[in-house]
Amino acid sequence: MPTSYLVAGASRGIGLEFIRQLARQQQEEDDDVVVYGTVRNLEKAPASLTNGSSSQEAELRRVKWLQLDTNEQSQVDEAARQVDELDVLIVNAAIGGEDLDLMDTNPSLLSQYLQNNVVGPHRIILAFLDALRKGKQKKIILISSRSGSMDMQAKSQQKHGSAGPYSVTKAAINMCAIQLARELKPQGFIVNPLSPGWVSTDMGNKIVNDKAMPVEQSVGGMLNVIRSLTLEKSATFYHYDGSVVPW
Ligand SMILES: NC(=O)c1ccc[n+]([C@@H]2O[C@H](COP(=O)([O-])OP(=O)(O)OC[C@H]3O[C@@H](n4cnc5c(N)ncnc54)[C@H](OP(=O)(O)O)[C@@H]3O)[C@@H](O)[C@H]2O)c1
Repeated sequence: MPTSYLVAGASRGIGLEFIRQLARQQQEEDDDVVVYGTVRNLEKAPASLTNGSSSQEAELRRVKWLQLDTNEQSQVDEAARQVDELDVLIVNAAIGGEDLDLMDTNPSLLSQYLQNNVVGPHRIILAFLDALRKGKQKKIILISSRSGSMDMQAKSQQKHGSAGPYSVTKAAINMCAIQLARELKPQGFIVNPLSPGWVSTDMGNKIVNDKAMPVEQSVGGMLNVIRSLTLEKSATFYHYDGSVVPW
């Protein structure tokens, strides 16, 4: 039986690289992997932007693209109706990268951050639970950030990574992972937040940092972590290299 993955928020950056690496695995292992990617605008799905001339583009054409904005309940429900069975859900979509302090964040902007980075991911998870229940692996992966580590932020004398409202949402998503891991454990679910590290993407490059790593390295590491996850490792916060991040 093939293993099925769905990456929510796959139009670019880390989400698109997940799709590329999984689709490559799909090609190499002769359909042993089924890959779903979600984008906000289906007409701009990565495969349809290409002319199909390179092997990478051919890989992307094998992906099943679904349209959804994580803030739109009806789109999320419609996408979930199209997936009968799912092994691994990777919730990647988020906003961030702004260098903002909390004291300069107005309530409507904080609300926007919470909607995109906490309420949206929660909505996606609820919508795909039935498909995950039918899957063999029952893995829910929340793409988080070390910015959301209370321990690292509290011990840092200076701003640690992307602070402000973004860090609040990533701390919240970590707590969602802990609570969902506990609630869903009796059904055999594995729920983990993962930190990609500092990655060269649109978001990662908003904060000038010459140490941002190539997206291939971060996603390759996270896929190794995802494959190694077991029920005993559920509710642990992992960095892309397999080390444990303090809460
Ligand atoms: N890059 C880093 O250094 C870094 C570090 C730590 C954690 N992270 C986390 O890694 C994940 C991916 O980041 P990235 O660097 O790849 O960011 P990115 O380049 O800005 O891409 C963000 C992705 O999320 C999608 N998205 C955002 N809001 C959405 C919504 N409401 N509905 C559907 N899709 C939505 C975007 O779609 P559109 O194209 O439609 O906007 C895009 O595909 C995020 O969770 C981020 O917090 C990144």
